[in-house]
Amino acid sequence: MGRVFVTRRLPGAALTQLEQLHETFVWPDQLPPSYEQLREHTARADALLALLTDRVDAPLMAASPNLRVIANYAVGYDNIDVDAASARGIPVGNTPDALTDATADLTFALLMAAARRIPEAAAFARGGRWQTWEPAGFLGADVHGATLGIIGLGRIGQAVARRATGFGMEVLTTETRDQHNLEHLLRRSDFISIHLPLTAGTRGLIGADALALMKPTAILINTARGAIVERSALARALHTGQIAGAALDVTEPEPLPEDDPLWEAPNLLVVPHIGSATWSARERMTEIAVQNILAGLDGDPLPYQVPAQLKD
Ligand code: DGY
Repeated sequence: MGRVFVTRRLPGAALTQLEQLHETFVWPDQLPPSYEQLREHTARADALLALLTDRVDAPLMAASPNLRVIANYAVGYDNIDVDAASARGIPVGNTPDALTDATADLTFALLMAAARRIPEAAAFARGGRWQTWEPAGFLGADVHGATLGIIGLGRIGQAVARRATGFGMEVLTTETRDQHNLEHLLRRSDFISIHLPLTAGTRGLIGADALALMKPTAILINTARGAIVERSALARALHTGQIAGAALDVTEPEPLPEDDPLWEAPNLLVVPHIGSATWSARERMTEIAVQNILAGLDGDPLPYQVPAQLKD
């Protein structure tokens, strides 16, 4: 029997299986453990089931002599020092596939909400200001027939592309390494959606230079990681009308501080990192994370193991 530290209560029944087989401590609070609390509990654990809010770094691993497996409850794993884990022979698992469609759906929800000004219009109606049908009320951008630029063509990027085809959109795609292609996409797209992992190579990829290439009518959507977009550059681009709008599921940091200037930017829609927040996706993520922990404790290869290094 191993000792497992799970850093939050998770949806679905799979945790029960873990609790039956291993001594499992589930962090009971709604807010994540502090770094010190994470370190203290992981120090006694054989396995760690972590969330993207937990920083699992080299010092934490060094202080956890028994740690044999880390399972991240996310497809992204930029919160984990994977190099440090592989140097210690600790496999790291993630939860791909489970959330591909849910995240692609949310990407489209954000795209359409920003294009058709849905949050603004809903607040207007509920706020008692709806007096009549207005010929020029809440005019927005066409989604059908528009050009969608997808940056990052992994599972989620491809799932977004499939949805775009159904809307009769022209789809441009690029991977970050191809600078020429990226510039072409930024200049041509009406909507630009980011689907990259956060790495040293993608951090700040969408900064002032990239934003300057976009059309003044362009809308930026980010459901990947907040740090891929430079938030002060985005705030400036929205304030100056360099781009028409942005819809963000992710920010850096999360949550965005109450006094962050980005909140003042016009035509900005922010939701609290809910890309994978459907019942089935989150339950499947729990199942996969538990499978990863069980395999790691048995000394077997993880069913969903991340590569030893984050690729740019
Ligand atoms: C992930 O999985 O990386 C998402 O950001 C949260 O589900």
